[in-house]
Amino acid sequence: MRKFVLGLTASLFALSAWGQPSHTLDINLKKPGAAIQNTMYGIFFEDINYAADGGLYAELVKNRSFEFPNDALQGWKAFGKVEVRADGPFERNPHYVRLQDPGHPHKWTGLDNEGFFGIGVKQGEAYRFSVWARVPDGGESQLRIELVNTASMGEDHFLCQNNLTVTGKEWKKYTVTLTPGATLDKAILRIFLTGNRNTVDLEHVSLFPQDTWMGHENGLRKDLAQALADLKPGIFRFPGGCIVEGTDLQTRYNWKNSVGPVENRPLNENRWEYTFPHRFYPDYYQSYGLGFYEFFQLSEEIGAEPLPILSCGLACQFQNNDPKAHCSLEDLQPFIQDALDLIEFANGSVDTPWGKVRAQMGHPAPFNMKFLGIGNEQWDATYPEHLEPFLKALRAAHPEIKIVGSSGPDSEGKQFDFLWPEMKRLKADLVDEHFYRPYEWFLSQGARYDNYDRKGPKVFAGEYACHAKGKKWNHFYASLLEAAFMTGLERNADVVHMATYAPLFAHVEGWQWRPDLIWYDNLRSFRTVSWHVQQLYGQYRGSNCLQLTMNGANVTGAEGQDGLFASAVLDGNKIYVKVVNTTDKEQEIALNFTGLKKKAVVKAVEGVRLSSCGCKLDKDNSLDAPALFEPAPFTFEGEGKCLSATAPAYSFNIYILEK
Ligand code: AHR
Repeated sequence: MRKFVLGLTASLFALSAWGQPSHTLDINLKKPGAAIQNTMYGIFFEDINYAADGGLYAELVKNRSFEFPNDALQGWKAFGKVEVRADGPFERNPHYVRLQDPGHPHKWTGLDNEGFFGIGVKQGEAYRFSVWARVPDGGESQLRIELVNTASMGEDHFLCQNNLTVTGKEWKKYTVTLTPGATLDKAILRIFLTGNRNTVDLEHVSLFPQDTWMGHENGLRKDLAQALADLKPGIFRFPGGCIVEGTDLQTRYNWKNSVGPVENRPLNENRWEYTFPHRFYPDYYQSYGLGFYEFFQLSEEIGAEPLPILSCGLACQFQNNDPKAHCSLEDLQPFIQDALDLIEFANGSVDTPWGKVRAQMGHPAPFNMKFLGIGNEQWDATYPEHLEPFLKALRAAHPEIKIVGSSGPDSEGKQFDFLWPEMKRLKADLVDEHFYRPYEWFLSQGARYDNYDRKGPKVFAGEYACHAKGKKWNHFYASLLEAAFMTGLERNADVVHMATYAPLFAHVEGWQWRPDLIWYDNLRSFRTVSWHVQQLYGQYRGSNCLQLTMNGANVTGAEGQDGLFASAVLDGNKIYVKVVNTTDKEQEIALNFTGLKKKAVVKAVEGVRLSSCGCKLDKDNSLDAPALFEPAPFTFEGEGKCLSATAPAYSFNIYILEK
């Protein structure tokens, strides 16, 4: 049906070639305009909404190292004789559990783990259970490992089971495979003493699907990583966001704690555990299993430039008015050293201390990092004061690294107006702008970058999304306005070098913030309309801007432009014209190509369209209907210097042509 409707619309477009277009877009092919950076469209990752543990990071066990600070057994249910001890083999994660004979042949000792909102497992797929264990008194001890459905009315609760024999007094890593006989989104992991019931010690209890993204053992959930790769991102910003800053400096993201063997990466609090009192998540911590090595590796695998953001020594300024909460300028050196060491970790030779850590983790070749952000949403004079010593040190040691500074949390206003000139004065290479703004803002900002200083720092639109008032959820119309706004990013590619929608991920049972780009539960995921907008820009990025005007003006949804936004780019001999119609009426337009040699023409190839699907403006894709909105090809034909096209009501259209 959908295809039929599209086909019908396509023939109407062809007919419209004989009708009167209401608007003519002039596209100048005389010479290519500004180069569009490879980094132009990308990804912002932050561990918010259970994006890392419980999300992209494929670990299925919560509190695997028994380090949750309020309760070492949070996430676990212990039965029989279980004791938590604190002299384990990993100095930065010292806790472990001791399982002992409960003292009666008809009693049992063991532990259940609840996972993150349950443990999602798929029938017939292999899961790698691993544990560090020892028999403190020597000899051997037997364990039964199961995936369990406690809600089952069947004879057996277990979906699968396997046995593990632990031998000797030394801590060793043991692995067994579990292959469930049924699919379940909320299984639990059960471990209990069997056989001789000799005392056994367990540490770092882990369960991963064997089939992770790129097959890495300490791997990522495949469907979620694939959704990132499919965006064809040019830049990958990590690890945030506010978690870079921390609610206090002690709990800021500390990259040095996120590398090396996973068993010894210390747990960190996640500030999204309690940032919003109306959505508390008391079990939200960062295992750092998805750490800086994994971020760099993922960047490489999805073809994006890595862009780490580090603390500038200021804790979250929203949450800390007391100057003592921040690092004073005199004490800033360790933070600066963190930045210098990170460059060594990413790019240094294997003979350097941090380059060696990278090599030991499996990547002797450098990651070739080119960009580094210092500070997230900082403000007031204290930010440039903190940034300056970083810049001095980094410029002296690494002039090749481009530094990203911040314009604060707002898209305009006092701090923004203060910080931009400061970033220019300090010669930051790029300035990170953030805007979570309503419909009206997106509709009015099509020309935002048209008058930016061409000689100043470049723009990194580092966090943005359209947030409708009273309609905080993901929906088509908000995404359409993002598409409209992005024509202005593209047209100003000489100034805007990077743009990343935010936030990226959200677990349907664990979110603190929405809208988000990709949603999931324990087994399924879906890509939102905003994801498709980002994907279309990534796929049809092109190499150079082309000048596109209507009656001599940029097409920015300005008065008299009937809610149209448009831009055009060149890609070899291809031309991609993007037109967003934000109104409820179909509009016929002429694409008029100027600057062509007398006899030269352009040829329509095809079109791709994201449309409102019968005006479901408030809806989006969902777990149950993941493909309600998807871009669809449409027939776009014709040859000449001026071609007709139609932009249906509420649609994002890409017209593909050949020179
Ligand atoms: O993306 C969510 C939050 O929004 C980020 O952590 C922060 O930088 C911004 O305020």
